[in-house]
Amino acid sequence: VGTLKEADLKGKSVFVRVDLNVPLDDNSNITDDTRIRAAVPTIKYLMGNGSRVVLCSHLGRPKGVTPKYSLKPLVPRLSELLGVEVVMANDSIGEEVQKLVAGLPEGGVLLLENVRFYPEEEKNDPEFAKKLAALADVYVNDAFGTAHRAHASTEGVAKYLKPSVAGFLMQKELDYLVGAVANPKKPFAAIVGGSKVSTKIGVIESLLSTVDILLLGGGMIYTFYKAQGHSVGSSLLEEDKLDLAKSLMEKAKAKGVSLLLPTDVVIADKFAPDANSKIVPATAIPDGWMGLDIGPDSIKTFSKALDTTKTIIWNGPMGVFEFDKFAAGTEAVAKQLAELSGKGVTTIIGGGDSVAAVEKVGLADKMSHISTGGGASLELLEGKPLPGVLALDDA
Ligand code: 3PG
Repeated sequence: VGTLKEADLKGKSVFVRVDLNVPLDDNSNITDDTRIRAAVPTIKYLMGNGSRVVLCSHLGRPKGVTPKYSLKPLVPRLSELLGVEVVMANDSIGEEVQKLVAGLPEGGVLLLENVRFYPEEEKNDPEFAKKLAALADVYVNDAFGTAHRAHASTEGVAKYLKPSVAGFLMQKELDYLVGAVANPKKPFAAIVGGSKVSTKIGVIESLLSTVDILLLGGGMIYTFYKAQGHSVGSSLLEEDKLDLAKSLMEKAKAKGVSLLLPTDVVIADKFAPDANSKIVPATAIPDGWMGLDIGPDSIKTFSKALDTTKTIIWNGPMGVFEFDKFAAGTEAVAKQLAELSGKGVTTIIGGGDSVAAVEKVGLADKMSHISTGGGASLELLEGKPLPGVLALDDA
């Protein structure tokens, strides 16, 4: 068996690792159900093919059994989206759970309790993986967001269940983040932002081999300006990454990549939503001020560059978009990508804060692909193999 579509599923118990690690507020209300919705196509397919569906996920980073990290609050939303009453288990392994699985009708769905209540999960303990495997006949991994972790439910269990295959979400994430990035329709642009260059070095280096245009924004740009000899006031700065910034600029040049830094920035007199702000050339940030967004001139330059492209990948916001005063740069990028998407440009939003930004302006459904992975999409874009994918038959 190569893929999920080829697997024999009728009457089988299927262990599905999903990433239902969603944000909950203090009253256990789900504040963003994106990951639950993203898991639905695979689950519905299994239901429709007569499987007994056993869903396994983590939530947060609990140390042992911690009620506030229970997956129970997800049951109503999951049931609503699937159109069946999802059965909740009090545990993720053991006899009681096995009975619940056996009692499921074909097309029924069971949600296991948070698998990280067992420390053996993150240790990738083989005995624990066997106990998980004992619940089912077939393994489907659709937890893209956790595929960079070699844990018992993402990696270990695949050794004990055959077939073990990727779910539809996993396939789509890989199609875009690996396929479209390795063989992009050209010209290909990457927009990389976020606060620190140190967390994006790998991504930038890896993308420099395939992109034609690289646009940089966010807090990391001040390390680049400083490396060019400009003063950056009290902007975010990684003093120990100045040489690295220089070498990235040189590499871009050597590879013929057009690297664009913002020409103007919005500066603030403090890091606060009600800070005083003004727009200045990026090379003229006064002492005591910090850059918190890209300026209107940069937005125009970026927009012109993006207009010529056929594929765009975006990772990391252009500024502190959580503060309305400093959200214009990030929102302009989101809006333009949505527009270009409508004109046939492939637009990929690579996880984390840029996804939150696109959702904030209500444009998520306009993009070609929005990744459900933060750390996982970063590692994939860095060119690292994901253990949760390598363990599968169809890797
Ligand atoms: C995530 O939210 O990035 C994934 O669910 C993985 O969670 P983790 O970083 O706690 O392993």
